[in-house]
Amino acid sequence: MDSLPGYLQATHGRTYIDKYPRTIIDIDELRNGVLLEFGPGAGNDLLWLCQHGMAPDRLFSLEADRAAYAIQSFVLREQLRGFALFHLPFDLSDSRFPPEGGFDFVYANNVLHCLGNAAGIYAATTRAFGHLKTGGVFFGRTLSDKIDSERLAATITRQEEITRKILAEPIPEVSHFETCEMSFQVGSDTINSQTAIHRLDTADGKKILSEYRGRVKRKKQERICGTREAFVLSTVNALKDGRLMGVKPEKLEQIARSVGFSETHVEVRKHPWKPTEDFYFRFEKSD
Ligand SMILES: C[S@@+](CC[C@H](N)C(=O)[O-])C[C@H]1O[C@@H](n2cnc3c(N)ncnc32)[C@H](O)[C@@H]1O
Repeated sequence: MDSLPGYLQATHGRTYIDKYPRTIIDIDELRNGVLLEFGPGAGNDLLWLCQHGMAPDRLFSLEADRAAYAIQSFVLREQLRGFALFHLPFDLSDSRFPPEGGFDFVYANNVLHCLGNAAGIYAATTRAFGHLKTGGVFFGRTLSDKIDSERLAATITRQEEITRKILAEPIPEVSHFETCEMSFQVGSDTINSQTAIHRLDTADGKKILSEYRGRVKRKKQERICGTREAFVLSTVNALKDGRLMGVKPEKLEQIARSVGFSETHVEVRKHPWKPTEDFYFRFEKSD
């Protein structure tokens, strides 16, 4: 499944790999291995790894979302040069990229919960196992199915307050036109804001003003939708209606063992206010 609407904006430039607990992965441990990332999105973590000493020929990835992949290939091309070709626009379920290889690490950050259902998680875990060499590690982070109802109520209240505040902000005076960069379509002409202000008393003026107010309202709406609270609430809704698949940490460990991983370790992360719960996992493949 593609990322939730707003995900790429909400995580613009954000890296995760550098914040992993050392009990899950140590960056020095990674540097000497070859890593395959599942669902890197815009490739922020891949870029971070290259910029922190990981050789580009040690990094591979599979990403199904073409929009995310377009950003990723654009960003990585500069850094990885020819090795950008190791990053493929493939769905994990695509049999043209079989689960083979001698990878030391398979990494999946915020990906398993995007795979639709338990069968998708099982298939991705099986694929990870198949790509790893003996001694390899599948690690990442995903959402559990837990939603804390008290925290959810508090987040909804906070989001409502933010919405009220933003909507109550007055629409900036028309004199603001003189300093802002806007253009308006008047008939077949495109006019800039400085010109527009001189037309306000004319018949075009009403149209310009209503378009201006509409744009300010849309900007307010964008700000409301862009808050952390709004993104968290959309994640909660997606978990509730099944667009995202939360999994209990112990259930994921069970899946990992059933596909052949011998050592499993999970760590729940307590967030200061989010009603959802993330956890880290590390699964080792041994003889
Ligand atoms: C929530 S985003 C996480 C992106 C990135 N790992 C991060 O943490 O910022 C989930 C990513 O997994 C990708 N994804 C979901 N299902 C996939 C599949 N079946 N095959 C490959 N990628 C998939 C999505 O397109 C998206 O880029």
